Amino acid sequence: MHKIVFATNNVHKMAEVSDILCSGIKLLSLKDIGCFEELPETQNTIDANALQKARYVYEKFSMDCFADDTGLEVEILKGAPGVYSARYAGEDCNSENNIQKLLLEMDGETNRNACFRTVAALILDGKEYLFEGKISGRILTEKHGTDGFGYDPVFLPDGYDLSFAQMGMELKNRISHRALAMKKLSTFLNK
Ligand code: IMP
Repeated sequence: MHKIVFATNNVHKMAEVSDILCSGIKLLSLKDIGCFEELPETQNTIDANALQKARYVYEKFSMDCFADDTGLEVEILKGAPGVYSARYAGEDCNSENNIQKLLLEMDGETNRNACFRTVAALILDGKEYLFEGKISGRILTEKHGTDGFGYDPVFLPDGYDLSFAQMGMELKNRISHRALAMKKLSTFLNK
């Protein structure tokens, strides 16, 4: 069986990807390989951060692996918060602080176009591959719904009249940026 490391300890992400991988692949988490340190994420693009995490694991553990990185890109804010989505309102801030900062920055704006973008970086036998998943939508003027995490309450995906935080995790995880990137990666691995 081909062992491959997913550079995360997030059980939800692990379950999501395990579900779509074929049976010949055994997915390992960072914990499974004894990697307990925080992975470096010091680059200024989503692509470079995903690659940095994957390279760290590949170089230290010599195992095939992949890592993901995600950001919310808002058109009128020239792609911000982007790679800084997790700490938009500051290093020690939480999702609520990030949402409030975003709503303030966009106060009165009519162009509310945005997208979530995930990049999955895979290293297989030393070769690097990138897979992108993107979902377009709009930033709402106030929070709607309580499910999910991050910016879910203020993101309305195109084609739906429910925010990510209102639609239920089953549907969100089927259509999300992360699901799209992971499906592309899984299709590649399954081949
Ligand atoms: P990560 O790269 O998956 O850790 O995502 C970075 C940041 O982007 C998170 O801390 C969230 O603020 C935001 N984010 C990523 N994915 C989602 C999502 O599915 N919904 C809402 N926010 C998200």
